[in-house]
Amino acid sequence: MRGARILGTGRALPSRVVTNAELTTMMDTSEEWIVQRTGIRERRFVDPGTGASDLGVQAARAAIERAGLVPQDIQFIVFATLSPDLFFPGSGVFVQEKLGLDTIGALDVRTQCTGFIYGLSVAEAYVKAGFYDHVLVIGAEVQSTGLDMSTAGRDVSVLFGDGGGAVIVGPTEPGKGILSTHLHSEGKYARELMVEAPASIENPRISKEMIDARRHLGTMNGRSVFIHATRRFPEVIREALAENGMTVSDLSIVIPHQANLRITQAVTKALGVPAEKVFSNIEKYGNTTAASVPIALDECVEQGRIREGDVVCLAAFGSGFTWASSLIRW
Ligand code: COA
Repeated sequence: MRGARILGTGRALPSRVVTNAELTTMMDTSEEWIVQRTGIRERRFVDPGTGASDLGVQAARAAIERAGLVPQDIQFIVFATLSPDLFFPGSGVFVQEKLGLDTIGALDVRTQCTGFIYGLSVAEAYVKAGFYDHVLVIGAEVQSTGLDMSTAGRDVSVLFGDGGGAVIVGPTEPGKGILSTHLHSEGKYARELMVEAPASIENPRISKEMIDARRHLGTMNGRSVFIHATRRFPEVIREALAENGMTVSDLSIVIPHQANLRITQAVTKALGVPAEKVFSNIEKYGNTTAASVPIALDECVEQGRIREGDVVCLAAFGSGFTWASSLIRW
């Protein structure tokens, strides 16, 4: 079977910067609390009317160019997001239309913070199996329209930001590129980090009462997320290394989902890798859910932090709970 590799990366960040100081004008919080607990200094919010597909398309155009391709070379779209433009259809079809592509397939992935890695695994499998030669994988989120910006929602809202990232996956020699991907879930914790409405188990799916009770805004058991994340991140990174007969000393760089700086620091310590081998940009963008890994990957490539032959590990944990890793020989 042939291999699958990342041919190009791209990102899209809204121009509007929202600092911690700005958040203190909306809710009872402080710059010190946010920086100390999360490492976040600022995040980006979209202007009204911008959907996840708009950020996705922008990131996709950059990734297509980086890969030396044109949009018409793309044969399949995978779009990972928890904040699709509409409840349905998914955002992938909007990307198909906005990129002016022929009637290619477009699949939306709904695994939140791990969505990009789950999506990458789909592209990897299709390319390795010879179904497609150029698959576009996007992770993009508009979180800002779903955050409770009052003091009641401050534990969640200070964490999240908007953004998009994309990669193009194409064929390579066996044993190169994406070596393996590892996907997990544990649905008994589904309610630890969720948005309850609109929901098909409700009739109507959304009502004034539900909005008044703020059930359309995300809720999180932060302590539970922290405990599970700091266990699952190192576990799934080690799983990827073991699968490929490697140890942590073989890693050139780890690119974790940017959940929270304290989680990243705990994972770095648990793995026993030097801090400079674990990428972080959360201070600039906050947690952008499915977009955080491809945005970080694109920044690493741009900064020359990934070179040919490097062993790169992508890893994520989040709502579901779901967790995942992908080991890549660049
Ligand atoms: N500003 C100021 N105070 C805040 C606040 C904010 N934005 N959010 C919560 N607080 C308050 C709480 O109300 C609480 O007050 P109390 O002691 O009077 O009840 C106090 O700060 C401490 O809250 P606590 O929950 O104990 O803080 P913590 O040290 O556990 O940190 C998180 C909270 C959310 C930062 C932490 O649990 C965490 O990192 N969890 C993982 C979250 C995450 O990464 N989610 C994304 C997953 S993909």
